Amino acid sequence: MDIEKIKNDIVDFKITDNISLEKFRLSFLSKKGIIPSLFSELRNVPKEQKKEAGQKINDLKKLATEIFEKGKLDFSKAEEKSVIDDFTKPSNILRLGSRHPISIVKNKIIDIFLKIGFDISEGPEIEDDWHNFTALNLPEYHPARDMQDTFYLSKDPDWLLRTHTSSVQIRHMENNKPPIRTISPGRVYRNEDISARSHCFFHQIEGLYIDKNVSFVDLKQTLLYFTKELFGKNKIRLRPSYFPFTEPSAELDIYWGLETETDYRITKGTGWLEILGCGMVDPNVLKNCNIDPNEYSGYAFGLGLERITMLLYQIDDIRTLYENDIRFLSQFSKSI
Ligand code: DAH
Repeated sequence: MDIEKIKNDIVDFKITDNISLEKFRLSFLSKKGIIPSLFSELRNVPKEQKKEAGQKINDLKKLATEIFEKGKLDFSKAEEKSVIDDFTKPSNILRLGSRHPISIVKNKIIDIFLKIGFDISEGPEIEDDWHNFTALNLPEYHPARDMQDTFYLSKDPDWLLRTHTSSVQIRHMENNKPPIRTISPGRVYRNEDISARSHCFFHQIEGLYIDKNVSFVDLKQTLLYFTKELFGKNKIRLRPSYFPFTEPSAELDIYWGLETETDYRITKGTGWLEILGCGMVDPNVLKNCNIDPNEYSGYAFGLGLERITMLLYQIDDIRTLYENDIRFLSQFSKSI
């Protein structure tokens, strides 16, 4: 075992690029390289010399490893640089991102309504009092304004952060003539404490259908179609409710079932889940948008996207949706 010679070979080895670096590794460090074979030769060394020889081989290994690691650092930098210099080289593989779960569910819902002739409309997140409240049959001092804790931006002019996407209904009716069939996805804001179940902003989708002879039956059938498509469930009920902009108003519940323990937990043992608010557009709202309620009628509905996303993916803390933790978000990439 000529350790001195091997040491010289290690020190003299010309490492000039990644290829010679790999040769170096193969000669000295790889399983079949010189240093591991020295370790196996130790078996034949007389007992008294074993300790010293072992120590020397260890030192060799340390030396070779240091040279190799240094080479790795030098040439990875060099490689990076050469990629920048040479634009014909293939680039590093880019890790593809994935859609946010809210976007996945939003797109699914949009597709469901596009299939039955709805279009998509959007409106501003900074709204005025007229579009967010007054035109929706919520005049100043109306007690129902308290249902939605509002972020006010200024008093005169009266700017606020929209509390719901119902404001887009108004803008759409002001600018379009019936028949109107539109859905309006968007972000809304409420002055609420942040917790596992609520946040100061979230997303809604609004639906609006205005035409001659639109009735409650149309509303019910559309919602049944929607429920079947999105959740694969075909039992719904419409519970009487109150919204200032619809008359009559209702809340849509779907029958989720009571098969698993989770079903019991999320439906609080009833099997039913509340999904959205809806109703027949109040004639006052139509009048506010210059649509004649004697000629036209319509229905509207509004749903919270976070609620539905959390339900579909069994997410139990709304905050995880906004933390941008890639470990959480990448779980949804397969469901696009
Ligand atoms: N804007 C309501 C909310 O934010 C939801 C809603 C209920 C929208 C009934 C509607 C509707 O269009 O008809 O709570």
